[in-house]
Amino acid sequence: MLSDSFIMLTQSQQHCIYTTENFVKNRLADDHSGHDFAHIMRVVKLAKQIQQTEPDSDCFVVIMAAYLHDVIDDKVMDNVITARQQLLEFMQLQSLCQTDIDAILAIIDNMSYSANLTEKKRLSLEGQIVQDADRLDAIGAIGIGRAFLYGGSKKHTMYDPDIKPRTSMTKADYRTPSTVINHFYEKLLHLKDQMNTQEGQKLALTRHQFLVNFVNQFEAEWEC
Ligand code: ADP
Ligand code: NI
Repeated sequence: MLSDSFIMLTQSQQHCIYTTENFVKNRLADDHSGHDFAHIMRVVKLAKQIQQTEPDSDCFVVIMAAYLHDVIDDKVMDNVITARQQLLEFMQLQSLCQTDIDAILAIIDNMSYSANLTEKKRLSLEGQIVQDADRLDAIGAIGIGRAFLYGGSKKHTMYDPDIKPRTSMTKADYRTPSTVINHFYEKLLHLKDQMNTQEGQKLALTRHQFLVNFVNQFEAEWEC
C-alpha cells in the first residue's frame, strides 16, 4: 500500500522513483555482501516509516537517497569514480533539479559509518532519516545475518578471542580485516546510541537487545 506521503509526490517524482528502483536493482544485482537490492528495499521501507514521523522532512529526497545510498559505496562498487559518474548521468537524465541532486549527494556522501569515524559529518534531516534506516538494517536478526554474509564474502574469520576489538579507527583501519564478532563491538553495538530520530531510537531498542543476546550466547557457547 502506498504511504500518504508517497501519494503527496508529484507524478514526475513518482515516475523518477520507479526508474531509480530499476537503476539500483541493476547496479546491485551482483552483490553478495549484504548490500543487495533486498537491503535497499528494507532501507526504503524503514526510511518511509521514519519520514512519516518527521513532517518537516522532504519525502522525495528521503526516498531517493534511501534507494541510491549504496550505489557509489567503495565496499560495493569496484570503481567508485565510474559509479559516481554513472549516478550523476542517471540523475540528470531523470531531469532532477540541481537542489535535489545536491541534497541526495550530500546524504549519500556523508551518511556512512566509515565517513563518520574521525569526524561527525553534518547531515540534513532527510540524511538523518536515511542514516537511521540504514543503521536499523545493520542491527537485529537481519543485521546479524548481514554481518556474517559480509564477513564471509571478504574471507574474514568468524571469531578469534586473541584478536581484540579496536577502540578507535580511521577509515583505512575500519576496512582492515578483523573478525565478524569484533565488528559487533567496533560498530553494531554502538548504533543504538547514535540514532538521530526518535522513531529510529524506538525501533533500535528491540534490534539492539537481540544483538546483545546473540553476542552473549555466542561467547558462552565458544567458552563452554
Ligand atoms: P557504512 O556503509 O555505514 O560505512 P559499513 O561499511 O560498516 O557501513 O557496512 C554496512 C554493513 O556491512 C554493516 O552493517 C555490516 O553488515 C557489513 N560490514 C561492514 N564491515 C564489516 C565487517 N568488518 N565485518 C562484518 N560486517 C561488516
Ligand atoms: Ni546500506
